[in-house]
Amino acid sequence: MGKKLKLVAVSGSLSNPSRTTTLLSAIVGELQKKLPLDVHFIELQKLGPLLGGSLSRLELPQPAVDEIIKIEEADLLAVATPVYRASVTGLFKHLFDFVGHETLFNTPVLLAATGGSDRHALVIDHQLRPLFSFFQALTLPVGVYASEADFSDLDPGYGIGSDALQERIALAVERALPYLQSRLPTNGTRQPFLVELK
Ligand SMILES: Cc1cc2nc3c(=O)[nH]c(=O)nc-3n(C[C@H](O)[C@H](O)[C@H](O)COP(=O)(O)O)c2cc1C
Repeated sequence: MGKKLKLVAVSGSLSNPSRTTTLLSAIVGELQKKLPLDVHFIELQKLGPLLGGSLSRLELPQPAVDEIIKIEEADLLAVATPVYRASVTGLFKHLFDFVGHETLFNTPVLLAATGGSDRHALVIDHQLRPLFSFFQALTLPVGVYASEADFSDLDPGYGIGSDALQERIALAVERALPYLQSRLPTNGTRQPFLVELK
């Protein structure tokens, strides 16, 4: 039986190529260097058209429901969104509006965002962190924000274009590790994060 954490990565970007998805892939790559992970990657750029026309979970097509169940059953989430109008993208929020409100208790969530400049870096703490606090998820201490200047233009996509960003990614993962290592399954079942409160 594999002893891996189920990581679900969610990119709220609507673009392809995408700086946000590039950042999230780099974060996932850094996590994979440190932990045995079973990775499932969800891109709103692909999933969005299946979500956009549905106003309730009952209306969702099955492939979209399957992706939402992956989120609900994750051991660990890594989420990233571009800043749109000083917030997360509408489809990112729409996706999480379909996620069961009792399904993410204590699930660790690594937060990340990209924006046109550094002025909206607090989107992580003012928009993403409260959203996952609602779910009583465990938002990890260090989030990663990157602006357009942090990326290099590669043909046909983007790359991590600054050492400073690479260092922020490494720091976020390093600070996350104490919360994650204790969750590695020892017998194939999901482990509680903390000792039960008396
Ligand atoms: C509709 C729209 C709204 C945006 N609003 C903001 C904003 O409020 N603040 C900001 O810093 N950047 C804003 N941007 C820029 C994007 O956040 C930025 O280019 C991001 O890195 C794009 O990520 P992507 O390559 O994954 O699409 C906006 C871009 C779009 C298309």
